[in-house]
Amino acid sequence: MLAILLMLSLLGSLSFANAQESSSGGDGGSGLKHKFYALSCPQAEDIARRTLQRNRMSDPTAPAALLRVVFHDCQVEGCDASILLETSSAMTAETVSEKNFSIRRLDYIHDIKAAIEKECPGIVSCADIIVMAARDAIAMSGGPQIPIETGRRDTLFASNLNADEALPPPTLTVSEMLDTLAEKGLDIEESVAILGAHTLGVGHCLNFINRFDPQDNGPQMSPFFSTALRVLCQSPPSMSNATFAPNDLTNFMFDNQYFRDLQGQRGLLTVDAELPIDPRTKKHVDLFALNQLLFFAKFSDAFVKLTSFNVLTGSDGEIRRDCRAVNREP
Ligand code: HEM
Repeated sequence: MLAILLMLSLLGSLSFANAQESSSGGDGGSGLKHKFYALSCPQAEDIARRTLQRNRMSDPTAPAALLRVVFHDCQVEGCDASILLETSSAMTAETVSEKNFSIRRLDYIHDIKAAIEKECPGIVSCADIIVMAARDAIAMSGGPQIPIETGRRDTLFASNLNADEALPPPTLTVSEMLDTLAEKGLDIEESVAILGAHTLGVGHCLNFINRFDPQDNGPQMSPFFSTALRVLCQSPPSMSNATFAPNDLTNFMFDNQYFRDLQGQRGLLTVDAELPIDPRTKKHVDLFALNQLLFFAKFSDAFVKLTSFNVLTGSDGEIRRDCRAVNREP
């Protein structure tokens, strides 16, 4: 009798916990929650981290690539793994958009998904995996450990035209950047902090060549930096899409060097270079350049906001089995 009572009470608490887990009500009204997979796939986050760690050995530039992937996914109608859907009879992939030029290492997301599916089929969304991978990429590069929430679901549709419209051009100005990020609830300080993602990775010549245009009235580059970039970008036309420069002096480390580079007129893109000049953003650049912990704290807040905005939760969308395609086309 005691054994039966014990079993009943165990079952009771288990189904209560499962109901909690599948509920779409989370903190902050986004429908997300911390440790969403604690019961349904407790090993998911470990598998994601281990798979990325292993892959990163063969490509140390992967953290930068994955950090850009999360932005390009979330910027187009929220973080819903739309960036991973491949072209089919029903849709043209977002990666076809020119704005997704040089988006890389989607294969690493697919590797994580495959490893998780083996242990917990149909449980963990591709949208959450993209956010987890970026979160881990930041931590592995020396950045903050960001306490993200999970419970996102995957969209059923993607379009190259949506990407064309929603992704920023490489010539974006600070004013345009602040407007774009304000739509996601980021204030000015958080917008400057999230641009600190450019502490990792590279920019290709074609994305900053506008700054050499004599008609360009944008911010000055330091003379040494400008000469070095001009020489670099003078490679033969066949190479112009392949030539790139580091985003900051320590572009494998997630640190506040980016902000010190901006102060030294070594910002690569227009938006980077304007940050230390515009009076709305300059004070934050100066503070982040001095105080890495402050940068990490504000970056973390901004990352959580960016990755929680307009997500699919509850019974919206689906959990894709393969991130490249919806489970069943309409
Ligand atoms: C809103 C204004 C932004 C603009 C205009 C912008 C634009 C760009 C451009 C043009 C590149 C260079 C791509 C290339 O030439 O290969 C780049 C790289 C990068 N961006 Fe942004 N970006 C913005 C915001 C962000 C945000 C919010 C994040 C992350 C949260 C981010 C993360 C990155 C990373 C990590 C790279 C390096 C990628 C790599 O090395 O593969 N960017 N960005």
